[in-house]
Amino acid sequence: MNRPRFYLLAASLTFGLAVACVGNGIEPVVMAAGAGAQAGRPSPPPSRAAAAQPPGEYVGEATCAACHDQSYKGTKHALMLNERTPAATHGCESCHGPGKAHAESGDPALIKNPKKMKPAEVSDICTSCHNRASHALWDGSQHFQRNLTCTTCHSVHAPKGEPQLVARTEMELCASCHRPVVNRVYRFHHMPVREGGLTCSSCHNPHGSSNVRLLRAGTTIDESCTSCHTDKRGPYLWEHAPVSESCTTCHEPHGTNNDRMLVSKLPFLCQRCHVTSRHPPTVYEGYLLQNSANGNKIYARACANCHTQVHGSNAPSGKALLR
Ligand code: HEC
Ligand code: HEC
Ligand code: HEC
Ligand code: HEC
Ligand code: HEC
Ligand code: HEC
Ligand code: HEC
Ligand code: HEC
Ligand code: HEC
Ligand code: HEC
Repeated sequence: MNRPRFYLLAASLTFGLAVACVGNGIEPVVMAAGAGAQAGRPSPPPSRAAAAQPPGEYVGEATCAACHDQSYKGTKHALMLNERTPAATHGCESCHGPGKAHAESGDPALIKNPKKMKPAEVSDICTSCHNRASHALWDGSQHFQRNLTCTTCHSVHAPKGEPQLVARTEMELCASCHRPVVNRVYRFHHMPVREGGLTCSSCHNPHGSSNVRLLRAGTTIDESCTSCHTDKRGPYLWEHAPVSESCTTCHEPHGTNNDRMLVSKLPFLCQRCHVTSRHPPTVYEGYLLQNSANGNKIYARACANCHTQVHGSNAPSGKALLR
């Protein structure tokens, strides 16, 4: 991704402010440096502590509705039967905090407005409920570190797409920041994302993960791929080293203009690594092509015509990945 980022580190380590501009429609946001540190965050920096519940009492949703039309009707937050929803707990005040003082005065300073809060403080409101399962690793995740917050992607009061996204579709949402990656899905050979067969989040968990690249499954790229392509998991009697290393050595997971989403055409893909062997798999020049029995090695699917088991072989005599 190519976007300007600049970090200004000021003052002491603990209280310094990190200003990160993530571009593409996100306004430059300011947050405490502690919260941006690599692994999770240390004790809450002062700004977040200050965001803790303002002292006060709850007045209930009916009171708020007397002065405001904002609503969350029609969303899962309004389901009374689920005892964990705002509707079943403090209503508007589940997110905006106790509002008695504000309701009596109408003073905007006496109520929490997520629009005016720092990203990490907004996440804290949401993760007071959404802190389990697929959301457990939000703090410290790549998106968290770059000052995204829940409301960068979700809207409580005016969602445009499922599940309460700020964009009509997930791909549109991701594209607002990851255009170069989304473009790859439009190449000739691609994962069936634009056809609706998969979504970005089939492979990625935007809320954080224990794998690299926010990958949803496993702890390595291979584990992520083989969570669906189980036939490629192995173990094989004859492993092909790069396969056990990473599928993305040969495949671009979003799409390419080569067959099978290969990062390079055959036979060049193989020739990136194999420059010598019993039958020279190196690039042939004109003379060799016409005069050598090895010319056949680079036509059509080339290497893969014979080495059909590029991912590994379980045949006792499959050392050369031919069967
Ligand atoms: C007596 C009328 C009244 C009641 C009751 C009331 N508000 Fe407000 N609220 C206001 C006014 C007036 C403003 C300021 C509007 C503006 O600046 O445009 C405001 C602003 C807000 C804001 C934005 C604050 C900001 O920083 O801009 C939020 C959020 C809010 N109210 C939530 C609530 C919630 C939640 C409740 C129920 C607990 C509630 N209000 C009850 C009158 C009320
Ligand atoms: C699940 C959390 C949640 C609940 C419940 C909730 N809100 Fe909000 N509210 C937000 C968030 C987040 C924003 C900031 C809007 C944004 O970023 O899109 C917001 C914005 C607002 C604003 C506008 C502030 C502005 O500056 O435009 C008002 C007013 C408001 N809410 C009132 C209410 C009222 C009234 C209720 C109850 C009927 C309610 N909210 C319930 C999360 C919530
Ligand atoms: C009081 C607890 C509570 C708070 C606070 C809360 N939520 Fe929720 N939210 C829920 C529950 C419960 C559900 C329904 C859970 C489910 O179906 O998995 C839900 C569902 C959702 C969904 C899924 C909607 C769908 O259609 O599947 C989204 C997105 C969401 N919340 C975002 C937020 C955001 C963003 C915030 C903070 C601004 C927030 N929530 C704050 C309790 C809460
Ligand atoms: C980068 C964009 C992005 C951010 C930031 C984000 N979400 Fe999501 N969220 C999504 C997308 C896309 C989905 C649908 C795919 C999925 O379920 O992962 C989703 C799904 C959800 C769901 C419903 C499905 C589920 O896993 O229960 C909830 C609830 C939710 N998000 C809450 C949150 C909360 C709370 C935060 C902040 C801690 C947050 N999201 C931050 C993009 C985002
Ligand atoms: C089939 C699984 C899969 C799907 C579907 C998928 N990704 Fe990825 N994505 C990956 C893998 C694997 C990597 C890691 C590639 C690497 O590091 O070699 C990755 C890397 C990324 C990266 C970071 C590295 C880079 O290439 O810039 C971003 C951003 C990303 N994906 C966004 C998306 C978006 C947006 C979508 C939806 C259009 C999407 N992905 C769909 C598997 C997938
Ligand atoms: C508001 C902008 C924004 C949106 C929307 C957004 N991202 Fe990101 N994403 C970022 C930033 C910033 C990074 C950090 C990039 C970096 O450090 O190079 C990032 C990083 C990533 C990474 C790479 C993590 C890594 O280890 O390099 C993946 C994968 C990713 N996002 C997937 C998604 C998916 C999927 C969506 C849609 C559900 C999405 N993002 C929506 C801004 C966004
Ligand atoms: C969430 C499930 C899922 C994950 C994870 C996944 N794939 Fe796929 N993959 C699919 C589906 C579905 C297809 C389409 C199959 C079809 O059209 O028959 C596919 C197709 C492919 C194809 C064939 C494309 C073609 O042109 O025939 C390749 C190569 C591939 N995936 C590689 C990968 C790699 C490498 C990874 C890991 C980065 C990965 N896949 C992760 C579901 C997944
Ligand atoms: C050494 C390069 C290389 C690596 C590494 C690699 N592949 Fe492949 N893969 C290929 C080639 C070449 C083809 C096309 C074979 C053909 O056309 O017969 C292919 C085809 C595929 C296909 C589609 C055809 C089929 O056999 O189903 C899938 C799916 C696939 N690979 C998944 C994976 C997964 C998952 C991984 C990681 C475990 C991986 N590949 C690692 C080279 C590689
Ligand atoms: C990223 C580098 C890389 C790429 C790309 C690659 N290979 Fe390999 N390949 C290796 C390594 C490393 C070995 C193990 C060599 C050893 O054990 O001496 C190997 C082993 C082999 C073997 C078995 C050789 C033996 O004697 O055991 C065959 C056959 C083979 N590769 C064919 C291919 C084909 C066909 C392709 C293209 C689809 C390909 N390789 C792409 C790195 C690569
Ligand atoms: C016409 C079928 C055929 C084609 C096409 C072919 N190979 Fe082979 N390859 C073989 C056979 C047969 C062996 C020898 C197996 C043996 O001797 O055990 C072999 C062996 C190998 C070996 C292991 C050789 C060694 O030194 O032990 C590698 C590596 C290899 N091929 C790579 C490639 C690459 C890269 C390509 C594409 C440029 C390719 N092959 C194209 C049939 C083919």
